[in-house]
Amino acid sequence: MPARDRLICALDTPSLERAVALAHDLAGAVGALKLGLEFFTAQGPAGVRRVAACGLPLFLDLKLHDIPNTVAGAVRAALELPVAMLTLHAQGGAAMLEAAAEARAAAGRPEVRLLAVTLLTSLDEADLARMGAPGRVEERVARLAELALRSGIDGLVCSPGEVAMLRARFGPKPLLVVPGIRPQPQADDQKRTATPEAVLAAGADRLVVGRPITRARDPRAAAEALLAVLEGGQKR
Ligand code: C5P
Repeated sequence: MPARDRLICALDTPSLERAVALAHDLAGAVGALKLGLEFFTAQGPAGVRRVAACGLPLFLDLKLHDIPNTVAGAVRAALELPVAMLTLHAQGGAAMLEAAAEARAAAGRPEVRLLAVTLLTSLDEADLARMGAPGRVEERVARLAELALRSGIDGLVCSPGEVAMLRARFGPKPLLVVPGIRPQPQADDQKRTATPEAVLAAGADRLVVGRPITRARDPRAAAEALLAVLEGGQKR
């Protein structure tokens, strides 16, 4: 895979103007753009189409989680849009995940990658205990990952610290998409971060980078610097 295709920039903004400006600026420097709940709630499908018109593939990070019938309907609606990747919560269970995979097949969009989020990285063992499901985070992530991959889902969104474990358990096939990337230490809300080189070496397929690009003085230059690092990492 060319290094550029590995780099996904997260456009976490409710502003159409800002998203379109970044999409133009980053064209050719990243492999895809991620639009999430913030953008989708503010700008809807028309906003997604407008960003897609800038030319980069889109990762629609809606983290769908509902009963199977509702999620199948949401997948059908999302696949009316020019998206390349779509996320669901593995915690929706096997029937929900299978319904999503069936909806994709019925829509005739087999090329769209369905990705599962296992356990939100904002949750820790104390949260699991409070939720009535005590246990180790790693074990729960692995079980949810297995459930998703057995239910027709193509890959997983996972934290830097989970990549090596998931690659070792599930082999080369699942697509592993990894946020929480920090080229340099940064004081923000991400606690479990890693450098792009380390995440690539651990077995990640694609890296999601938001603020280190979008908040840089020159976002395109920041993306190009990351690309150079990824290219170096791939050669090693
Ligand atoms: O700005 P930053 O690089 O932290 O952006 C990371 C992106 O990845 C954000 O869109 C965030 O919502 C998303 N994400 C994450 N951790 C997860 C799943 C998704 O940071 N476990």
